[in-house]
Amino acid sequence: MDLSIIGSGYVGLVTGACFADVGHNVICVDNDLRKVEALQAGKVPIFEPGLEEVIHRNVSAHRLSFTGSVQEAVNNSQIVFIAVPTPQQPNGDVDLSFIEKVAREIAGVLTDYRVIVDKSTVPVKTGEKVAESIKRYNRHGAKFDVVSNPEFLREGCAIADLMHPDRIVIGAQSEHAIDLMKKVYEPFMAPILVTDINSAELIKHAANSFLALKISYINAVSAICEASGANVEKVADGIGMDRRIGRNFLNAGIGYGGSCFPKDIAAFITISEQLGVPFNLLKEVQQINGAQKERFLKTIRETLWVLREKKIAVWGLTFKPDTDDIRSSVAIDLVADMLREGAQVTAYDPKGMEKAREVKAIAGVKFASSAIEATEGAEALIIATEWTEFANVDLSVIKEKMTTPIIFDGRNMFNPETMGQLGFRYHSIGRSSVTPR
Ligand code: UGA
Repeated sequence: MDLSIIGSGYVGLVTGACFADVGHNVICVDNDLRKVEALQAGKVPIFEPGLEEVIHRNVSAHRLSFTGSVQEAVNNSQIVFIAVPTPQQPNGDVDLSFIEKVAREIAGVLTDYRVIVDKSTVPVKTGEKVAESIKRYNRHGAKFDVVSNPEFLREGCAIADLMHPDRIVIGAQSEHAIDLMKKVYEPFMAPILVTDINSAELIKHAANSFLALKISYINAVSAICEASGANVEKVADGIGMDRRIGRNFLNAGIGYGGSCFPKDIAAFITISEQLGVPFNLLKEVQQINGAQKERFLKTIRETLWVLREKKIAVWGLTFKPDTDDIRSSVAIDLVADMLREGAQVTAYDPKGMEKAREVKAIAGVKFASSAIEATEGAEALIIATEWTEFANVDLSVIKEKMTTPIIFDGRNMFNPETMGQLGFRYHSIGRSSVTPR
């Protein structure tokens, strides 16, 4: 099929690449012409495992191309996907101005029937607004259908998530649009759920909020584990073995971050309030998430006493492993907090340092060229993101490099017992701390 995707950010680019990979002809559009030129020259602006390869393969096969022109994309495709950002405004509302602008642009060049699909995360009832807007600016009176098709991919494993999704959600009114959308997704051989547009939009916010709730739930349990001497990993295993609960997304840590959960939970709270049915449970989810970082900092302060002039190594700056994304990363917030208290922080991240260098809040941080180098002379090591690379570091080398071998593991990467045996003072989340044997 001939498809186009407006917005070549994370979702747009990965979706476009995977659609092309299953045999569709795809045009990816972006209004940032430098990005378009870079993509045309074979440069991929984000780090996502496997993405570059899929893009190159499909560009070579002439199934994937890039342009700055919405008109070119709309003219040459049966279905137009919208995958533009929907950022959060200071008052918690979702900024839908990019969606509105794209809807207007599409309407202005619409001459024939097209299916307009919203893939961006949007508040319930946005589809109605998109349809109204297209109708208003539709100069040629062309027919069209609006569809909601939320995306559930995770950064770091986006290609696998897109190629093998748990489900495809298609929210639509028209049978013709539903048939076309089913054809798009036929090669993926995944279960398809057809709903009305409002339900599809709501599924996205409800799914992300539920996942964040699972994380906050186990994080709240981790505080009780620390206070009582229980082990949160064992508790998570024990409750996760119940198939009604499941073990996924029950990893305790310093809290969730990223470009989705913090923004989407805030948006869902605002949406519920605007609809007159406040979803207060989600406020507690947010509160627990923030408290988790504060509790971690408290342990650091209690152990090191004063942070001023302390040499602290930090492993991990991205909001999760296997990405270069540092948006709303708890790791960055932690570094900023410690710098404010006068600590001398040296950080290392396998992919996130280039973007971290631009962040004003952590301007005082030093960057190391390896995980081991970061620990040179450090009085404490903080693990903020669970990159596999860190699990493979020779810890006896780290112990030699550090002035005082103290580790604060915010992602429970290591076994406390082993760390004690190796001679570390080791603090983690929801598990008893150990001192050197
Ligand atoms: C999330 C959802 O998982 C995707 O389904 C959704 O499509 C995406 O948001 C989106 O709305 O675009 P993503 O933010 O890429 O995906 O990453 P996740 O793997 O969900 O991790 C989010 C945060 O939760 C990370 O900071 C991670 O460290 C944290 N997390 C995750 C935990 O603290 N514990 C867990 O058990 C799992």
